[in-house]
Amino acid sequence: MEQEPIIVCDNLVKIYRLLGLEVMALQGLDLVAMPNEFVAIVGASGSGKSTLMSIIGGLEQPTSGWVHVAGHEINKMNQNELNQYRQHFIGFIWQHATRNLLPYLTCRENIELPLLISGTLNSDKEAYIDRLLELVNLTERSHHRLSELSGGEQQRVALCVALINQPTILLADEPTGELDSTLAQQMFTTLRKLQQELNLTIVVVSHDIEIARFVDRVVTIRDGRVATETLKQNNGYYQAGEAQQTQGDAQVLEQPEHVYEELAIFDSAGSIHIPDEYRMRLGIKRRARIELLEDGIMIRPVTNDDETTMKTIQTMRELKTQLEVDTQGNLLERIYQSGRKALARRKEKKTDGK
Ligand SMILES: Nc1ncnc2c1ncn2[C@@H]1O[C@H](COP(=O)(O)OP(=O)(O)OP(=O)(O)O)[C@@H](O)[C@H]1O
Ligand SMILES: [Mg+2]
Repeated sequence: MEQEPIIVCDNLVKIYRLLGLEVMALQGLDLVAMPNEFVAIVGASGSGKSTLMSIIGGLEQPTSGWVHVAGHEINKMNQNELNQYRQHFIGFIWQHATRNLLPYLTCRENIELPLLISGTLNSDKEAYIDRLLELVNLTERSHHRLSELSGGEQQRVALCVALINQPTILLADEPTGELDSTLAQQMFTTLRKLQQELNLTIVVVSHDIEIARFVDRVVTIRDGRVATETLKQNNGYYQAGEAQQTQGDAQVLEQPEHVYEELAIFDSAGSIHIPDEYRMRLGIKRRARIELLEDGIMIRPVTNDDETTMKTIQTMRELKTQLEVDTQGNLLERIYQSGRKALARRKEKKTDGK
């Protein structure tokens, strides 16, 4: 029987409203992940990676679109259902996750703390903590205070805390943002091991291009949409029993060379993103000639497209300047008006007080 995806995001749009201005963080994003898959999300700053993670994790609702995760329709759930969903199905880890740990408690006490608070610490959970500590290579350090651990070790404690409720999905938003490249690779190796041993589905956001060597699939987001996906050609590494070497205090698995293939993604409107570099190299500007061949589609530049293109660009620039002036003008006007109102209210209060 074919497996059902565990994460399905269909045509997600997220608009943030700030001071009357709209920011479109996601613009029709589609994403699917299979159970037990390890997916990396990459993309420029501001492309919508964290927004996507917050929506999958039930922290934010999309403005429109459909999100189905582990049998839950996130966009139809109320606050109470979302809390339950987050608690039982999702583990979170992010760049500054260690800030939520307590420096004067030991590594193990930090992991036990959420269970002590919820009154759910029992012998099964204690055994599970032992297993987690072993998987992240911290057994020897379990009775050390957090302040005595290195940055990489502290981040691995945060990872155990994220997994304490035995979630189905682990969401990691730049978990290696504060680590150097060796520690980052150790973290990716640890994530891979956890994915295999605990049957986790992992979605990790990273700026580190090295991530491609550790995951099943790399998804690139541009301007709030999935632009490309990179697949590993020869799957099946990191099998149990594979040769391991020890580096520093964490295990790094030896990896064979892999061949990667970057695939363009069609969004629900049938559009694809052609990299700027390709268009520049071929002199493709605003329009292109599309030709259907026996075994593919050919996209060619249009000769003499310059004049039309320049006119269009000029018109767009004029419109953009106009829009910026309007938006700024409106914003300043609003700030000014609210300032005037606040001043009038203060004056009124003073007069009343007399
Ligand atoms: N709470 C918010 N209110 C207003 N705008 C927001 C909010 N959160 C994100 N944005 C905007 O949405 C866009 C996408 O932000 P997001 O944080 O998802 O990007 P990102 O890809 O995670 O970036 P980075 O790599 O810098 O973490 C940005 O333009 C950002 O400024
Ligand atoms: Mg982010």
